[in-house]
Amino acid sequence: MDQSRIRNFSIIAHIDHGKSTLADRILQLTDTVADRDMREQLLDSMDLERERGITIKAQAVRVAWKGHQLNLIDTPGHVDFTYEVSRSLQACEGAVLVVDAAQGIEAQTLANAYLAIENELEIVPVVNKIDLPSADPDGAAVEVANLLGGDPDDVVRISAKTGVNVDQVLDAIVERIPPPAGDRDAPPRALIFDSSYDQYRGVIAFVRVVDGRFETGAALRAMALGTEFDAEELGFMSPSRVPVQALEAGEVGYVITGLKDVSALRVGDTLTTRKGVAANEPVPGYKDVKPMVFAGLFPTDSDDYPELRDALERLKLNDAALFYEPETSQALGFGFRCGFLGLLHMEIVRERLEREFDLDLLVTAPNVAYRVERRNGETVEVHNPADMPRELERVEEPYIKASVIVPKDHVGAVMELCNERRGRFDHMEYLSEERVLLAYELPLGEIVLDFYDQLKSRTRGYASFDYDMAGFREGNLSRVDILVGGEQVDALSLITHRDFAYERGRLLVERLKEEIPRQMFDVPIQAAIGARVIARETVKARRKDVLAKCYGGDISRKRKLLEKQKKGKKRMKQVGGVEVPQEAFLAVLNLD
Ligand code: GTP
Repeated sequence: MDQSRIRNFSIIAHIDHGKSTLADRILQLTDTVADRDMREQLLDSMDLERERGITIKAQAVRVAWKGHQLNLIDTPGHVDFTYEVSRSLQACEGAVLVVDAAQGIEAQTLANAYLAIENELEIVPVVNKIDLPSADPDGAAVEVANLLGGDPDDVVRISAKTGVNVDQVLDAIVERIPPPAGDRDAPPRALIFDSSYDQYRGVIAFVRVVDGRFETGAALRAMALGTEFDAEELGFMSPSRVPVQALEAGEVGYVITGLKDVSALRVGDTLTTRKGVAANEPVPGYKDVKPMVFAGLFPTDSDDYPELRDALERLKLNDAALFYEPETSQALGFGFRCGFLGLLHMEIVRERLEREFDLDLLVTAPNVAYRVERRNGETVEVHNPADMPRELERVEEPYIKASVIVPKDHVGAVMELCNERRGRFDHMEYLSEERVLLAYELPLGEIVLDFYDQLKSRTRGYASFDYDMAGFREGNLSRVDILVGGEQVDALSLITHRDFAYERGRLLVERLKEEIPRQMFDVPIQAAIGARVIARETVKARRKDVLAKCYGGDISRKRKLLEKQKKGKKRMKQVGGVEVPQEAFLAVLNLD
């Protein structure tokens, strides 16, 4: 296709503002999908995504509109996947920014708009859901125009649900977004913005060809990782795979690589040729994304360990960002320490393991990665509080730059929460008369402890939140250990700021007292820093006799009760003769 007739764009939005619904309407309106084949949210291919209504993996679809080729690159919609979003945006010349007419601008609207501006994209602002009775399309249009510095009249007002004015979005894409600029005679370069794994064909890379031309069968190389392979098939999605002989500068499509390991091909890497004239310079911006949040995953039934290992191996095929290594806990036995991009990523992995692989898991409270300098000057990264050396010279913890958007009445509540979580105020800005943006720097370790839930409940659901990594900084941290029945439970250790150590140790012990059921004997629960016990509670002994309820001799009823009791115990772990339920391992998450 003539380059001047190509438009590459993404749809960016805050969660639930209607990105997927708009994408669906575009597929319908351009006859890419027949009406009768239209499933809700076609672009979200995983069941879990459809169910939760969130987009996890980016995909690209080619549609035709009035003699033009439009490539719609879908971006993941959550904070954990900012890097993937930015790579997808790099593959585009423009972005459709969708804002809910009833909600106005939210934290991710801003974060995404800034990413688009950084990538020098032409932004087509769209106000969606104008059909809602609570919609204020003019108000939202003014907010968007203020943000982007344009005219509110240029904001397209649509209902993605009913389809009203969606054609105007497509016209605006053709008119306002520039065609791709690549040089078709230059050595070939293509940016990988996503990849997936197909059981039969191996790793499939989704690419934007930046320069030159790629032919089916070509010998290729990924420039950052050095991985080599032959392009078994090239094509584009419409919405299923359509093979083509070649992809040229400006076009978006897929490459079937035949590779068996997704980690051999990373998002952000550049493909070039191995034969003829190869490109010298990769597309800038490649980053090796590192997991920041860690948790231990243990099978409730230790016999399931091999199944858990196989399941993680299979998930990893489709998720290069997932990290795992075997972990042995004195309390929980054999399991894996897993690393995630963020909390949502962790939730998704956990849910997929339980659902798709039918595993019963015990998950420990999440913690962040720490950089520890030992006395001998050596620096190690610690992913597990139990591995934190007691003798520390210097510890660094990751910080984030957070933006919170709230109605002005809730500003005080947000500031209070951020202060409690060791936040450093950066700045505050009025987005409109009613709504305020608060920017803070916070330790990520304070975010993984229920920050988001607290934020939502203290602002009655009105706050929206987004963050970016801001690097490692020194922190005055200590390790608090928990002893149950006199035995240290490694999986309950936590790292916390020294000022909070006593308070959190005490609260955790109180919570554990509630979570740990009475046993046949007294169970002391203690919190300790080093050898010093800082808090203590006791779970009093009680004889639990479930059969006492069955007066008569109805044996089948007795059996049922025993069965039920066994089930209730399923998610418990035996720790030094004490039954500790799953909830106890997450108790640290709700200490307020
Ligand atoms: P993520 O994929 O999670 O980022 O969300 P999204 O931005 O793709 O939002 P989605 O398209 O899933 O829409 C969220 C909800 O808003 C769904 O329940 C849609 O049915 C609804 N919705 C989307 N567009 C409209 C609209 O124009 N009018 C009305 N009334 N509802 C809409």
